[in-house]
Amino acid sequence: MLNQDFRRELEARRAAVCAQLGDGVLVLPSAPVALRNNDVDHEFRQSSDFFYLTGFEEPDCVLVLSGRPEGYVLFVRRRDPEREIWDGRRAGLEGAVEIFGADRAFGIDELDQKLVDLLENVTRVHYRIGERKDFDARFLDVLDRVRARGRTGSDWPTEIVDPRVILHELRLLKSPFEIERMREAAEITVEAHRAAMAACRPGMYEYEIEALLLHRFRRAGSQRVAYPSIVGSGPNATILHYRENDRRMQDGELLLIDAGAEFAYYAADVTRTFPVGGKFTPAQRDLYRIVLDAQLAAIARCRVGETLDAVHEAAARVIAGGLLELGFLSGTVDEVIEQKGLKPFFMHRTSHWLGMDVHDVGRYHRERQPRRLEPGMVITVEPGIYVAEGDENVPPEFRGIGIRIEDDVVITAGEPEVITEGAPKTIEAVEEACRG
Ligand code: GLY
Ligand code: MN
Ligand code: MN
Repeated sequence: MLNQDFRRELEARRAAVCAQLGDGVLVLPSAPVALRNNDVDHEFRQSSDFFYLTGFEEPDCVLVLSGRPEGYVLFVRRRDPEREIWDGRRAGLEGAVEIFGADRAFGIDELDQKLVDLLENVTRVHYRIGERKDFDARFLDVLDRVRARGRTGSDWPTEIVDPRVILHELRLLKSPFEIERMREAAEITVEAHRAAMAACRPGMYEYEIEALLLHRFRRAGSQRVAYPSIVGSGPNATILHYRENDRRMQDGELLLIDAGAEFAYYAADVTRTFPVGGKFTPAQRDLYRIVLDAQLAAIARCRVGETLDAVHEAAARVIAGGLLELGFLSGTVDEVIEQKGLKPFFMHRTSHWLGMDVHDVGRYHRERQPRRLEPGMVITVEPGIYVAEGDENVPPEFRGIGIRIEDDVVITAGEPEVITEGAPKTIEAVEEACRG
């Protein structure tokens, strides 16, 4: 059963979509099942757009939504006691109506026929062409058949519109219900990062820490990771999307953990970097302070009316200043920024949208201008410094150090709300957390 709050939230989302659909109709297939081998599939996760409007987690279904009477229609898998023994329970047609609140439900086997009926006299369909090529063929075939009916006087769809325009703008601005779930994902994640700091010892393997994170996530009710955990020690911390997590960690190195839980389809995205042996070396400390100051300066810019470019620039200027002071760069802060001199040390952006997807949906520009932050947006702030192992232009003690600090920030009408601030990040707090 969907709880009442969630059901109301879903109704409000569908109403908001319908208000923008006008007399158009949205056709949205669920995520596909991906075969891994033989009769084993990859883990199924519902597409975020589909879940956002239905709360329905089964594969092989289609939502047809419009503002017309009985406009919430679900095509779902029929109940099948024999298949359910193998693949698990299905809501079936009855469940789609009773539990998920659909006005009408049909078997997915009826889609080709019924969709022709549902699109008759509809002139605009909101459907994303190109995402599901297998489904495109089916959809285009349906359109042909609707068009053929035009001979008897009915209208057919002459406009196909990308539904992301409506859906992703709505998803970009989080409701209080969504922010609650994001707080939950953040809290679970913070607790796991703390546990990792307390447990890490020289001689352990990166995968032991990865396993600990996953254990903490799952036992707290998180369904899955929001993205593959990055657990990179020593020079591995300089690889931005490091995945192997198989190195033995040594005293004197840093461990960079970029890991986040998904909770109720909402992602957390947190990075902390700490000494494997519990104590920063002087060189690590120097770089860590710069990244931390950069992150705090960037967070201070996370306010209504600012842009992600401004947030990034705030971080970049602090990093430029710090690296100039250490003698890694020469010139002035302005020159470093202008000439893209930070690129060898800080080669990624500072922020991205965060929500149901870790790199969440929504446009970053409007009318070719960087868009302004609004209350209800959630972003990450994640500056870093990465010194290549073979960089002979810097003193040896700095080589192969990678540091990133990443928090999740809710834009409010006032102060930025850092929902992951429970994860230690000052040098003192980190060293203390490492002592357990
Ligand atoms: N974990 C992916 C990112 O930080 O963007
Ligand atoms: Mn991250
Ligand atoms: Mn991130």
